[in-house]
Amino acid sequence: MSKNTYYITTPIYYPSNKLHIGNSYTTVAADALARFKRLTGFDVRFLTGTDEHGQKIQRSAADAGKEPQVFVDEIVAWIKDLWSALDISYDDFIRTTEPRHKQAVEQIFNRLYQQGDIYKGRYEGWYCTPCESFWTARQVEDGNCPDCGRPVEKVAEEGYFFRMSKYAPRLLEHINANPDFIQPVSRKNEMINNFLKPGLEDLCVSRTTFDWGIPVSFDKKHVVYVWLDALSNYISALGYGSGDESLLHKYWPADVHLIGKDIVRFHTIYWPIFLMALGLPLPRQVFGHGWLILKEGKMSKSKGNVVDPMVLIQRYGSDSVRYFLLREIPFGTDGVFSNESMLQRINTDLANDLGNLLSRTVTMVERFFGGIIPAPAVKGNAYPSDRELRETALSTPSKMVKLMDNLQLSGALEVLWALIRRSNKYIDENTPWALAKKEEEKERLGTVLYNLCESLRFISVLLLPFMPRTPERIWSQLGIRSMGNLHVWKSLQEWGQLKPGIKAQRMDDLFPRLDLEQELKYLLERENDKAVKEGKKERDTVEEKEEKKVDLISIDDFARVDIRVAEILSAEPVPKTDKLLKLILNIGEEERQVVAGIALHYSSEELIGKKVLFVSNLKPVKLRGLLSEGMILAATSPEGKVVLTAVDADIAPGSKIS
Ligand code: ME8
Repeated sequence: MSKNTYYITTPIYYPSNKLHIGNSYTTVAADALARFKRLTGFDVRFLTGTDEHGQKIQRSAADAGKEPQVFVDEIVAWIKDLWSALDISYDDFIRTTEPRHKQAVEQIFNRLYQQGDIYKGRYEGWYCTPCESFWTARQVEDGNCPDCGRPVEKVAEEGYFFRMSKYAPRLLEHINANPDFIQPVSRKNEMINNFLKPGLEDLCVSRTTFDWGIPVSFDKKHVVYVWLDALSNYISALGYGSGDESLLHKYWPADVHLIGKDIVRFHTIYWPIFLMALGLPLPRQVFGHGWLILKEGKMSKSKGNVVDPMVLIQRYGSDSVRYFLLREIPFGTDGVFSNESMLQRINTDLANDLGNLLSRTVTMVERFFGGIIPAPAVKGNAYPSDRELRETALSTPSKMVKLMDNLQLSGALEVLWALIRRSNKYIDENTPWALAKKEEEKERLGTVLYNLCESLRFISVLLLPFMPRTPERIWSQLGIRSMGNLHVWKSLQEWGQLKPGIKAQRMDDLFPRLDLEQELKYLLERENDKAVKEGKKERDTVEEKEEKKVDLISIDDFARVDIRVAEILSAEPVPKTDKLLKLILNIGEEERQVVAGIALHYSSEELIGKKVLFVSNLKPVKLRGLLSEGMILAATSPEGKVVLTAVDADIAPGSKIS
């Protein structure tokens, strides 16, 4: 029997700050997948939650002058409100401070200790609190975390260690035998080349310098390392170790863990190894999606450019926000969020394409048939446009299934919009208003309007996973709101399920057209208000922001920097890092080796042959034991996206920039 369950998870969020549109992105995507699977007949379990322990949370609580539990309770309540406003249909919300989770983690830790996978030792090294990550002296770059670039702290404490290296060969074998396990593929290669191949070090899995965590039951001055604690949520929520493991038997292994690209390492190396040690099967897939970044830079309160999802939902409705997030960014790559692009999508895709299709159709049914959906001609099908519309509608569901199975959410919406656009084109081809002028075309007019209503019914059902509120509004106008049999997946197998004779009724526009200028002003004011209210910022206008002065240097200062055009001859990853690449450059008379932190942004292959700008008179330094003689120039958005600078015409390596 084929498996009919589907277990999907999001990361569990740190309640150290309120969530922004970037975090909402993962959860909306997971929700659309969960709803799609439910619609197509799967028994779905969709899990989300909060990751409430660790040094970072303890410090945030102390900064806010609150007990950690009180602090997290407040933010978790806010997160749940946000998910409800975004219509997130989770089946379970796990909090790592709940007893069901704590008991599972306690059992996991004890079992791993008893079977010898965890042993006691002493940890001396570096710790990045924002990432809750351990690093060795070799990995740390100039006192900064190699993942996020923020300063690390020296820690020296007694600790329990997990024998990672013991399981590494089995994991590598699993990754190679299961090409879908880590997706997209670029993230898989990064994990193999940068972490597994160079060899794994044992991982410290307890902390003693703070107490906001789950105590190690047999050595109470230790708390369990927050990532071992957090990752276990995926099975603690299914009742692992609770005495009732029926959910675990039914849903584990997970079909997909959806996560952001920054936490792929934890989910594709540590988590599978913990599972192997526990004798549990590995998740079928870990999908690391890209980041949502802002055109103006990082979403940060001090800059006053926070995109608060609540503001957008309240003004435009959750379906519009969901649509934008799912449609705009191909899942897997980074994407830019901007108010302009969101407003434009609402106007073009939602108001023009979808909204107009419904309003034109229902208005014509009212005008030409007194609101009663007409019957199509019995013979029918003689017109190529009818056939084409019907075939497009009937083939859309299976195309969407394929795309959704590959997590191509934006692609699935594109296919659905092709049906919407085909339907609008059908109106233009058949000009119902002209048919209405001739009595002998009455039957043809009826067929055309019937086909449009039926196509709208297909569209409404297919919209359900992405925009759960809009279909009901379409059904109300088509007069089929109470006819549940017309809202299900099965009803899309055959064209013509909609019964003629139903009363349609024109109501409010689905998505009223927005005045771009007015809305942009509104959103900017809300962002300003919010930042001012939180005391993070003086009230600035956009113009004032742009006018802020930078420090000036003289032409002589500038002349001291020798910038040249360099051609990249070769590029290869630096072992045990995920950010660094070793590059060999041709700079005219000589070749130079540099170590550049661009591995997350460029693959080695795409760099070879590129011409870049290069500072050639920097003092050489050693990075990870490799000599780096100079620096290539790149633009970095405050969110961390890195783009190399180039010259805009072909020019010989070594040419000087002045
Ligand atoms: O990492 N665009 O929690 P978190 C897209 N507690 N995704 C973004 C984003 C953006 N601008 N900013 C953040 C944690 N994210 C851990 C997870 S799981 C066992 C523990 C994503 O609250 C980020 O990539 O810092 C991550 O997947 C998720 O939000 C939660 O981040």
